[in-house]
Amino acid sequence: MTAAHPNARLLIVDDEEIALKNLQHVMTREGYAVTATKSGARAMALLEAQEFDVVLTDLRMEKVDGMEILKRCRERHPDAEVVLITGYATAESAVRAMKQGAFYYLAKPFRLDEVRKVVAEAVAKVMLRRENQALREQLDGYRGPVRIVTHDPAMLKLLEMARQVAPTDCSVLISGESGTGKELFARYLHHHSGRRDGPYTAVNCGAFSADLLANELFGHEKGAFTGATTLKKGLVEACAGGTLFLDEVTEMPPAMQVKLLRVLQEREVLRLGGTRPVKVDIRILAASNRDIAAAVANGAFRRDLYFRLNVVDLHIPPLRDRRDDIPLLVQHFLQKCTARMNKRVLGVSPEAMAVLMAYDFPGNVRELENIIERGAAVTASDTIEAEHLPAGLTEMTSVRRREGRLPTLEEQEMDYIDRVLREVGGNQSAAAQVLGINRSSLWRKLKGREGGG
Ligand SMILES: Nc1ncnc2c1ncn2[C@@H]1O[C@H](COP(=O)(O)OP(=O)(O)OP(=O)(O)O)[C@@H](O)[C@H]1O
Ligand SMILES: [Mg+2]
Repeated sequence: MTAAHPNARLLIVDDEEIALKNLQHVMTREGYAVTATKSGARAMALLEAQEFDVVLTDLRMEKVDGMEILKRCRERHPDAEVVLITGYATAESAVRAMKQGAFYYLAKPFRLDEVRKVVAEAVAKVMLRRENQALREQLDGYRGPVRIVTHDPAMLKLLEMARQVAPTDCSVLISGESGTGKELFARYLHHHSGRRDGPYTAVNCGAFSADLLANELFGHEKGAFTGATTLKKGLVEACAGGTLFLDEVTEMPPAMQVKLLRVLQEREVLRLGGTRPVKVDIRILAASNRDIAAAVANGAFRRDLYFRLNVVDLHIPPLRDRRDDIPLLVQHFLQKCTARMNKRVLGVSPEAMAVLMAYDFPGNVRELENIIERGAAVTASDTIEAEHLPAGLTEMTSVRRREGRLPTLEEQEMDYIDRVLREVGGNQSAAAQVLGINRSSLWRKLKGREGGG
């Protein structure tokens, strides 16, 4: 009989040679990946270095005993299950072991089918828990954040366009300032396509050197370079049947741009050191928070690649251009974060909302999300008040109250002083230095404002 979970990793510890060999033989025959050791100390070292699903250990051993192994497992591998074995079964040690979180307690002599059954149950429990966790992560990672919250007309148009192109294999170029929701749109496109059950992989093109990125995306043949001891498939191949999201695509080195063009034109990749191209079935989405057209104009980004990627162009407007979304997003993020925090925060006070509505959000939706999370964490009541918003936000809003006319030079100067003060954390000496004036002039200017209201 082979186990239902043949890839489960088992660690067996028993200082009695014959018993150890016997268990090792039986469990290997079951199909598990078995590591066996006679020494408790060695087992402890293995637990530091490797992952195991189930640990089967003798209780009474010289030096390091089964209880210590159990304890180490609970600390280092809370997901693993431990089965204890002993020839000196006493009710007392059994109870102690179970209290410490052992899965089961086997008394010698045991029948082999008994130990088989217990191990299979322990493995099944571990695997089920792991599956649940993977599912939960998928739900969090996909279904949760794929909700794009908006009632802004321009955004709704974008969403409609996204819905239409999602099921096609069209490349989509998503642009917009940092934090506007580019990755969210990429996930949305994947989720609403026929590839939703396939892989979705995001690669930050700016995070690798040219060589590393090539290796990451295209993989290599065995022997392609010193150290390439095995064939490695790149992300493009690994993403077959799914969606590859190339983030910060303008950061891609020129040599890579040529290779990517090939993937887009021929739908095939050449592994490093390879001679035969491999067909791939992927959809490519790309994003950048930089001006891609400008990068094309100054030669940093290939025009032909730009056209290939830019079959559909989704430009996400900054949050300050769709302020009506702010209250909606506030509610959305409150729900999201209070569920996680196990706290009841129902809304923001009118004063706090006024501050938010007037703020410019250079970090866009991500910044708002952070502000709400922070506010929900620090408020003691069920409302986020203005005082729970980051310092600096409130000052910024004074700028907005003048809306409708151009600011005076003096106002403009004050705004700049505020900005510098914020960036140096309110330190007036540091701010004066940045501003190129002395401390007392800065102090006079600040004082003057207080006087003038
Ligand atoms: N319309 C929206 N509805 C709900 N959540 C949003 C919306 N827009 C953005 N978010 C959330 O804001 C955060 C930032 O979004 P995302 O990571 O997609 O931005 P980005 O444009 O990729 O930013 P960057 O350029 O910095 O990589 C995420 O947590 C995302 O879920
Ligand atoms: Mg992003």
